[in-house]
Amino acid sequence: MTETSRERLRATFTEDAELYDRARPGYPHRMYEDLSGLVTLGPECRILELGCGTGQATVPLAATGSRLTAVELGPEMAGVARRNLTPYPHAEVVVGAFEDWPLPPDPFDLVFAATSFHWIDPAVRAAKAADALRPRGVLAVVSTHHVKGGSEEFFADTQPIYERFDPATPPGLRLSPAADIAPDDAGLAASGRFAPVEVRRYEWDLTYSTREYLDVLRTYSGHRALPAPARTGLLAGIADLVDHRYGGSITKRYLTELMTAERLA
Ligand SMILES: C[S@@+](CC[C@H](N)C(=O)[O-])C[C@H]1O[C@@H](n2cnc3c(N)ncnc32)[C@H](O)[C@@H]1O
Repeated sequence: MTETSRERLRATFTEDAELYDRARPGYPHRMYEDLSGLVTLGPECRILELGCGTGQATVPLAATGSRLTAVELGPEMAGVARRNLTPYPHAEVVVGAFEDWPLPPDPFDLVFAATSFHWIDPAVRAAKAADALRPRGVLAVVSTHHVKGGSEEFFADTQPIYERFDPATPPGLRLSPAADIAPDDAGLAASGRFAPVEVRRYEWDLTYSTREYLDVLRTYSGHRALPAPARTGLLAGIADLVDHRYGGSITKRYLTELMTAERLA
């Protein structure tokens, strides 16, 4: 991704923060259990979250009692996150790009990024996350992959619609099984600031009605960035497919990946 397209696409989420809040799923409970085995979450723990969105992972992290600061690029996303965090006064959200945010003097025990690390400048993110951590503090990067499973033929059935309305669609694209998705360390090893990464993976399914599925598609940056007529045509074609070939609901398989690495002393 070029820098220009990254900066353009990462700014699309905040265009409809309420939609994002309604439509985007959170993360599996098992992921938080594993994280709590790596970092002692609770009132003594200081967490820095990067790109919190409307609080998909922020709320469960704040519920552990940990003190949390989230840096979120989108003002509207931050506003909804603050609303969702009302019961947790020890959690705060600041608006800004992580690249530009001045690090506070006290280091964090955990730097956490859910489906957001790839939106941060690759030349900055690993080193600045390390700078934010105490020695042996943990960086946790959560990634979401769309994998083969659920309504198996559905993804293939959508491809002619994507090829018609989105010229960037590679011809004949198919989803891969989770086992074929190669881990990507997001440049942590090359930064020289972290111990070797550990990767944990969670596969899970979510069933969507036609309207729910269209809502989640409308939160994706690539879909949001399409010209309006193409987006309208694409969503209408998919709605027609779900309604008339899948009886009004489809099941989507997610692969959530939790990658963690300790900051070197
Ligand atoms: C795909 S959303 C993920 C939101 C949420 N963490 C989740 O798990 O659904 C990416 C979020 O990162 C934010 N973001 C993108 N680039 C950022 C940056 N450089 N600094 C801070 N936040 C950023 C976006 O505004 C958006 O809210």
